[in-house]
Amino acid sequence: MFIKIENDHSNVKVTLKLNKAFAALSALSGVSALFYARMFERKWLEVTSHRVEVHNLPTAWQGFRFAWMSDLHLGYKPSYEPVSATFERVIAAKPDLILLGGDYMDRGKWKPVCDELFGKLAATGIPIVGIWGNHDYFGNRRDPDKNLEHFERLGIRILVNEALCIEQQGIPQYFIGLDDSIKGVPDPKGAKKRLPNGIKPLVTLLHNPNYIRRLPENYSEVVLSGHTHGGQLNPLPLHRNLNWLRYSTGKHHSLYPTGWYNVNGNRLYTGRGVGVTHWPLRFGSRPELAIFELQPCN
Ligand SMILES: [Fe+2]
Repeated sequence: MFIKIENDHSNVKVTLKLNKAFAALSALSGVSALFYARMFERKWLEVTSHRVEVHNLPTAWQGFRFAWMSDLHLGYKPSYEPVSATFERVIAAKPDLILLGGDYMDRGKWKPVCDELFGKLAATGIPIVGIWGNHDYFGNRRDPDKNLEHFERLGIRILVNEALCIEQQGIPQYFIGLDDSIKGVPDPKGAKKRLPNGIKPLVTLLHNPNYIRRLPENYSEVVLSGHTHGGQLNPLPLHRNLNWLRYSTGKHHSLYPTGWYNVNGNRLYTGRGVGVTHWPLRFGSRPELAIFELQPCN
């Protein structure tokens, strides 16, 4: 019954037709996905909100809100539109503090658009604090130094293994910014020595979340990271455990591609970032502006 000589010719035709239909459907799906990734999701900013509970949080700090913007990649032309929208959104959100996660310029060089956007942000009067990412070291090895002058001119503080004290009603809390772990030299112990004895920083900024494994135990109440772009292109966006970064064996490998993790007593949040690099595409990883609010533990 398998070999039907008389129908052999028509069977071949049916198979060929099915193959053609499958190929056409696959091609259409691929083109549609590319179109969606470039024209829609890349610009589809998500503002995420997070309640961060902290033990013994002083009353003066309860309800304190800070924003986390990472991986702007300005200078990578197609990313300009979602990045500028993010600046508008963070200004509208009126946080008490704006934290920047590095990779400001895709190739390290300061662009006129940086003056425009960071200048607008600085004009709000909201304190702004940032760190370097690996892309801030691209181009010229001295680019971070040049860019530092621009940030300082605008009143934006960049922390390189440094701590910053911020007070609310006279009650201090400490923020640490570490150097990038790929192009720079992070020094968490050195940074912590700048704090009063026995004080745990409220927030530590760390561009690459992979470095979380090298942070001392219970180092900080919260650690904020970026770098991964949430994978940027996720063929299987159903769950973060399917994120390709987890299975990559190359330099992009990361066990912490997006969201909350608890590693060695440190609460880590990896933001998906705002811009794009390599390809002007995002799929299964929308650009993100994260807003955190401090609350005491119940
Ligand atoms: Fe980045």
